[in-house]
Amino acid sequence: MLRFDRIQRGAHWANAILFGVLMVTAIPLYFGSLFGIVLQRHLVAQVHLWTGVALPLPIIVSLVGPWGAQMRWDIQRINYWTADEIRWLKSLGRTPLEADKFNPGQKLNAIFVGATIVVMLATGSVLQWFRLFPVSWRTGSTFVHDVFALAVFVVVIGHVIMALTHRDSLVSMIKGRVSEAWAASHAAAWLHEQKVLEGSGEPE
Ligand code: HEM
Repeated sequence: MLRFDRIQRGAHWANAILFGVLMVTAIPLYFGSLFGIVLQRHLVAQVHLWTGVALPLPIIVSLVGPWGAQMRWDIQRINYWTADEIRWLKSLGRTPLEADKFNPGQKLNAIFVGATIVVMLATGSVLQWFRLFPVSWRTGSTFVHDVFALAVFVVVIGHVIMALTHRDSLVSMIKGRVSEAWAASHAAAWLHEQKVLEGSGEPE
């Protein structure tokens, strides 16, 4: 079964590379004493800035236009929460759930990534073009940029550990497909929906 089309996989890996570059360059920017040992500060700051400016592009390009139909459909899924999903999340996965294409943890991860892109772009722009903003905005932006940066490290490391320990999910983000057996045990509601669509002659 097709879980992610080529547009979605391309957007995911482009986004992952941009996040990776931002995280690697953030370390010497935060720990200023690494400069001179690692790289020149100006160069690192420029790479960080322009990678940051490019950060929303993979998501935007994958959403607009006729090629973005499955991406748009999946964003709707991520924004739709059933009472069972909220209960599952509150019980940390201990209540039964007939999961949709994405489980509540995966939905939360996607929402965090989307919010992070907006927040980091906004606060990073204030840090860069600081002359345009009052001092209080600059102070607030530095604080928010740093707090979100810490959260990004925690969430991305967790995400990578989950990917490495859930091989079928990882392979579906590389090759696009999962088996029906996987869907039956991890995304039963989605499998059911796909069967109904197949029966009516219009698979997603
Ligand atoms: C994954 C996302 C990101 C992470 C983890 C991250 C992390 C960081 C960290 C830790 C710093 C050092 C702050 C300090 O010294 O207190 C920094 C600085 C900065 N970031 Fe980001 N950032 C991210 C995204 C962005 C984006 C999207 C932009 C876009 C404009 C941006 C622009 C900047 C700028 C202009 C600075 C100041 C550089 C300097 O000191 O010259 N960042 N970032």
